[in-house]
Amino acid sequence: MLSRQENELLTRVGPGTPMGDLLRNYWIPVLLSRELPTPDSEPMRVRILGEDLVAFRDTQGQVGVLQNNCPHRGASLFFGRNEAGGLRCVYHGWKFAADGTCLDMPSEPAESGFKHKVKALAYPTRERNGVVWVYMGSTGGNAPPPLPDLEWNQVPESHVCLSKRVADSNWVQTLEGEIDSSHSGFLHTLLEEQDNYSNAQNASAGRLFGGAQGNTDMGMYYKMRDRHPRFEVLDTDYGVLIGARRAAEADSYYWRLTQFLMPFHTIIPPYGADPAFSGHAWLPIDDEHTLALCFTYHPVRPLSDGERHRLQNGGGRLGHQGLHPTIDAFLPPTAEAWSQYRSIYNKSNDYQMDWNAQRNVRFSGLPGIWPQDSACQESMGTIYDRSSEHLGSSDAGIIRVRRRLMQAATALRDQGLTPPALSQAASYRTRSASIVLPHDVSWIDGSAEFRQARAGVNFAAV
Ligand code: FES
Ligand SMILES: [Fe+2]
Repeated sequence: MLSRQENELLTRVGPGTPMGDLLRNYWIPVLLSRELPTPDSEPMRVRILGEDLVAFRDTQGQVGVLQNNCPHRGASLFFGRNEAGGLRCVYHGWKFAADGTCLDMPSEPAESGFKHKVKALAYPTRERNGVVWVYMGSTGGNAPPPLPDLEWNQVPESHVCLSKRVADSNWVQTLEGEIDSSHSGFLHTLLEEQDNYSNAQNASAGRLFGGAQGNTDMGMYYKMRDRHPRFEVLDTDYGVLIGARRAAEADSYYWRLTQFLMPFHTIIPPYGADPAFSGHAWLPIDDEHTLALCFTYHPVRPLSDGERHRLQNGGGRLGHQGLHPTIDAFLPPTAEAWSQYRSIYNKSNDYQMDWNAQRNVRFSGLPGIWPQDSACQESMGTIYDRSSEHLGSSDAGIIRVRRRLMQAATALRDQGLTPPALSQAASYRTRSASIVLPHDVSWIDGSAEFRQARAGVNFAAV
């Protein structure tokens, strides 16, 4: 439970708020390279941390992110002419470079020199492996920190699938949904699995699956059989490591380890003998909307056409939608920023809830993983009032992550302390893990090797 005041501190991200200031200290993966496909392609509306911006790729290929309102008299630069190394406002022709420099002011006499006194608000950008990162903090004239070494953005584009969708709730709700490992044994399950696994309560998983059907079945079996995991949390340089411990065999535990990386990154535990890793960057559009940037990557090889097709077209075991929205899941875009990522599964139609499926097929009846998450997270209220919640022991990870975020925000506000991991790019070289460990092996030591994001190395998950 949080006080109203703490809840405000945690959730509000606009300019001048403590959490907003904290988030602005970190690079934000706002754009995908494919959204600005070619030099001088059309500008794009961007809304992030409550600020309305316009992004464009200039003639040299550099991405500029400018305040939406032209510094002259405020017309939207979205309508700008993207030409010859800058974005030219269509109202009176003032033209700005990607760094905000005014290149031309044709409505003023040339001798006035006024153009040298005017600058558009521009945020630094860096482009890496298909993602454009934006830095919205003030650097006091110094260089911004390095980009974090998140593996999903360090592997080549061929190894990763990226998608976006808009969530109609505060960013902390979506973040908390992903570090809450206990919900997946309920919300994201089929009735048939629940029956099968609970009927096998006393069977050994090894006997049940004979070791032949693959590690995914083993992990799912352990997860379904023990649906009240014990949680352990560890503060790390980069954020919080969250361990969910379930019974495995007589002498072992099944550990599913989720990563939270400052300030809004998550990596969920994998499955399978040759696992890919998935997770999100939960990007606050404003206090009431979140851009869910979802990744799935393989650490050592390109995704196959079949894998990419499944990620983009859905049809997984839990319904048409998976962790990623399918390419047919979107509404026609409007003039609103990120409207191209608004889905046909939304609160206005109860996310296409299927009551018959709830009776006969899926625990929730909702059509796949992310709509299941969205229905729960958005129905909490746009900005959930945490003063009325009742946290259980399975919410330990959520409690710790909130504390880390609020402590970092108040330490920055009150003492000017540098936020965690800001200059430690290498601390982000970590993975989630799903492993079976003997009872007497510590989950931290026993998982250490699996958590290292080492180039060219992948471990089987359970
Ligand atoms: S408002 Fe943009 S040039 Fe006048
Ligand atoms: Fe979920």
